[in-house]
Amino acid sequence: MKNIVLFIFLYVFIVSPLKAAEDWGQNGHRTTAQIAEKHLKKRVLRKITQLLDGQSLAVASTFADDIKSDKSFDKYSKWHYVNIPAGKTYEAVKEELGENIIWAINKCTQKLQNKNTSKKEKQFYLKMLVHLVGDLHQPMHVGRAEDRGGNDIKVDWFGKHSNLHRVWDSQMIESYKMSFTELSEHAQILSKKEIKHYQEGNPETWAVESKNIADALYANAENNRNFGYKYMYQWFPVLKERLQIGGVRLAKILNNIFA
Ligand code: ADE
Ligand code: ZN
Ligand code: ZN
Repeated sequence: MKNIVLFIFLYVFIVSPLKAAEDWGQNGHRTTAQIAEKHLKKRVLRKITQLLDGQSLAVASTFADDIKSDKSFDKYSKWHYVNIPAGKTYEAVKEELGENIIWAINKCTQKLQNKNTSKKEKQFYLKMLVHLVGDLHQPMHVGRAEDRGGNDIKVDWFGKHSNLHRVWDSQMIESYKMSFTELSEHAQILSKKEIKHYQEGNPETWAVESKNIADALYANAENNRNFGYKYMYQWFPVLKERLQIGGVRLAKILNNIFA
């Protein structure tokens, strides 16, 4: 009996809080994926649907989180984020960083472009790619190493204990109470020029954008950690824009790969 009590105590207070952090909640990933689908060339969408045996990008987008509960996939946990030290460029630190989200997006792209990659492998790398381009646009996935991308920065979300990372992964989106189809349908209408502008650059330059937003979020959290309506009002437009830009850029990557 004592052992059971001890086990429960250890699990609740020690193991649970150490568990891997999540990412954009499921609806964030699905929104970005659904927006991407709208920007795909017809031929590309057909090829992708065939590769995924009919599955939509929205459903495929959460695969990378679904496999996190399987220990054999632990080696992919570093693929979801990158921590670039202040004042340094990714280029300067990439060797020491090892596998990270920028590296992983490039790896998935190369695997999908390679004629010798099997269908099964292509399915894996495509699902990872759809997910990771979403994560790259979650600012706290390009946050600081010392607080694990805001996971260790305690804040209150509408009076409940939370952390800065989780607020951005899922809690703002949940508070908005829209489905991913609604979120993607209500996205801003973009001109051709705006789309072209967003699609410039590459995963490395896009990460810098997220990092700059993360810096602003850290600075903001210095002043006040009681987040609620005011925080939503200030930051949710930014979050929605990140979901949309992620989708537009994912479409660019996929249009290139499957041209
Ligand atoms: N998730 C887990 N660790 C992280 C980190 N260091 N940065 C961003 N996201 C994370
Ligand atoms: Zn992720
Ligand atoms: Zn996350």
